[in-house]
Amino acid sequence: MSGNRTYTMIKPTAMRKGYMAPIMNKIVEGGFKIIAAKMTQLSKAEAEAFYGIHRGRPFFEELTSFMSSGPIMAMVIEKENAVEAYRNYIGSTNPAEAAEGTIRKMYGTNIGENAIHGSDSDENAKIEMSFFFTGREMF
Ligand code: GTP
Ligand code: MG
Repeated sequence: MSGNRTYTMIKPTAMRKGYMAPIMNKIVEGGFKIIAAKMTQLSKAEAEAFYGIHRGRPFFEELTSFMSSGPIMAMVIEKENAVEAYRNYIGSTNPAEAAEGTIRKMYGTNIGENAIHGSDSDENAKIEMSFFFTGREMF
């Protein structure tokens, strides 16, 4: 059974460009209910821990420096089959290849600064939401 919750965060470039509220609106328009939200900033070490699975990849340094470069909006969202539904909704990793109307197509800058994160499995969604939120911060 697939779960109904996933973890997402608006990345620093999209925050700097003023896309926080438009992206949150777009998430809600897609039928996802925001059940936790927090503006915060990752330290470099926290970004390295969050993206630990990518350690050793050529873009790891760039990714973790970028993700700790400014505030992010961390959220937990709810919808049936949330992980897959949301991955489809945000579009391909590279905004240039993302389908029209997806969040990454609309608000992404390039493959690194691609506006938004979405968990890639129920298991990782659980790990990622508990990285940012305690039980009493999820509604
Ligand atoms: P996330 O939802 O952010 O996890 O993206 P994803 O699941 O679509 O992609 P993946 O987990 O494979 O990569 C994580 C993040 O690393 C991506 O969102 C990109 O920001 C970044 N990334 C992936 N590939 C590249 C790359 O070739 N160059 C750079 N600079 N960043 C990359
Ligand atoms: Mg990923």
